[in-house]
Amino acid sequence: MTTSAVKRDITKPKDIQRIVDGFFKKVRKDTLLAPYFADKTQEEWDSFLPVMYSFWENVLFYSGGYAGNPMQRHKEMNDMKSFTQEHFTRWLNLMSEVVDKWYAGEKAEMMKERARSIATIMQVKIGT
Ligand code: HEM
Repeated sequence: MTTSAVKRDITKPKDIQRIVDGFFKKVRKDTLLAPYFADKTQEEWDSFLPVMYSFWENVLFYSGGYAGNPMQRHKEMNDMKSFTQEHFTRWLNLMSEVVDKWYAGEKAEMMKERARSIATIMQVKIGT
């Protein structure tokens, strides 16, 4: 017997947490992206993941809770260990896979679309 669950849209912070957690689970197993996160301690993950939740809550729901500067942060990382187009493509593919696995709708599309546009701006700013 097959069970086909109808996917729903992203509507609340818990949905974003599920996506971000699922995304980083994949990132940590990904040969291309994992090295960037390899030296994070458990403590650092525990403070990093909530930053990512608030970043995406701000992007999707305009929560106003994120006050970081991802462009600057990634520029610094790129200066130490260059990102290539391949890194960005992988990052975006993993993000889309996780969103599509569980969600469908306007916010789900928005999350993938914003990921793509922020990645494009990031690449321009860091000069990949
Ligand atoms: C080449 C692809 C990418 C890699 C390898 C990457 C890697 C990283 C790493 C290692 C950190 C942690 C920095 C730290 O510990 O301070 C980080 C932070 C972050 N990343 Fe990325 N990233 C990528 C693309 C993106 C994209 C496309 C977005 C947004 C759509 C994004 C959003 C963020 C945000 C919001 C933070 C937190 C910055 C803060 O501390 O406020 N990243 N990224």
